[in-house]
Amino acid sequence: MNQGLVLTKKHSLNGTIEVPGDKSISHRAVMFGAIAEGKTTIQNFLTGEDCLSTISCFKEMGVSIKQEGTNVTIEGKGFSGLKEPVNILNVGNSGTTTRLMLGILAGRPFHACIIGDESIAKRPMDRVTAPLRQMGAHIDGRNNGSFTPLSLRGGNLKSIYYKSPVASAQVKSSILLAGLQADGTTTVEEPYQSRDHTERLLSAFGVHVKKQNLTVSVEGGQTLKGANIYVPGDISSAAFFLVAGAIVPDSSIKLKNVGINPTRTGILDVLENMGAEIEIIPTLDSAEPMADISVRTSELKGTEISGELIPRLIDEIPIIALLATQAEGTTVIKDAEELKVKETNRIDTVVGELKKLGADIEATNDGMIIRGKTKLKGGTNVSSHGDHRIGMMLAIASTICEEPVELMQHEAVSVSYPAFFDHLNLLSKTI
Ligand code: S3P
Repeated sequence: MNQGLVLTKKHSLNGTIEVPGDKSISHRAVMFGAIAEGKTTIQNFLTGEDCLSTISCFKEMGVSIKQEGTNVTIEGKGFSGLKEPVNILNVGNSGTTTRLMLGILAGRPFHACIIGDESIAKRPMDRVTAPLRQMGAHIDGRNNGSFTPLSLRGGNLKSIYYKSPVASAQVKSSILLAGLQADGTTTVEEPYQSRDHTERLLSAFGVHVKKQNLTVSVEGGQTLKGANIYVPGDISSAAFFLVAGAIVPDSSIKLKNVGINPTRTGILDVLENMGAEIEIIPTLDSAEPMADISVRTSELKGTEISGELIPRLIDEIPIIALLATQAEGTTVIKDAEELKVKETNRIDTVVGELKKLGADIEATNDGMIIRGKTKLKGGTNVSSHGDHRIGMMLAIASTICEEPVELMQHEAVSVSYPAFFDHLNLLSKTI
């Protein structure tokens, strides 16, 4: 039986850290390198379990991928260089691997099986399998292809115009990757702008991508050309320390080279709206913009988070909920029903676990309502429920709890931030 990790109150957090590479970009850099012609190099690759699952799936399809720490080299041979896998493709905990890889496999003339962990088995795959079937892929799986395990045989694809009911970068990317193998022009329209890493990275690999308001189109038959990619720090990982810096007394934290793609910076808008003292100094600007971000202990006030802001901070809602417990007044989060189909049902897990610590928080149908400012008591067990972002949120929560907290299933953080606890310790010691 795994032991819980006992975490105690911190009197201040100070110092500078560099959070690991962006998860979304690391996945895409590997996948695009695998289907490109020629050599791709990736620097500052995220060595979290999710991105390692992507590497192992593409290795199973015969792609030569060398990973040495955060450096990755891929010898791509184009879409047609992918080989029918002998083994089942195991995506572990990674929804991005599953959905984007389905888009690539949809056009490959071979058979493949996909399986993942317990959490993946609960996540809806019909949001991609339905449009990919419309394009001509043969997909089967549990509950008629709605859930893993899935099996598929790629088809001769025809292009589609797909009006997505959800603002999801995974859905958009999956269809565009299939569209690159289809005849004619494939277009995806979304209700709100979701993260645009696929569009930016495809351009870096030499693909012509047309963007117009909320639609993105690609012409089938284009070739990706190997590229050299530098992955910026993950703003979704930085978010935990941005919030920690704002809520732990006497703190000042600097995070270096964080990706500030505008489709991802909702957390910065929320911190500013709530009155947090943050400073953003742009650094390198390549395919993806980056900045050094500093934060210090702040007086915070409640806010409302809804509508088009939601896809710009969807993965940060667990840590924003904690932030809101330390703000004066009420914070309302709505239009966020997508939280129910993440690694866990994040409305339930956030509300349930923060309540145990003493927060005044209630679940709604499409979000949550948090009243602050509340002293968190702690003195209890909490659990990540196997969800990396819930685990990290609870670890940060424990830094302001009066009594020690025992965090169960803390290993889940390795999915996106293997060095998370080391960084937390580093910041607590450098006073
Ligand atoms: C991701 C998109 C988002 C996000 C996930 C990563 C991506 O999911 O929550 O962590 O890399 O495309 P949806 O596209 O389902 O909203």
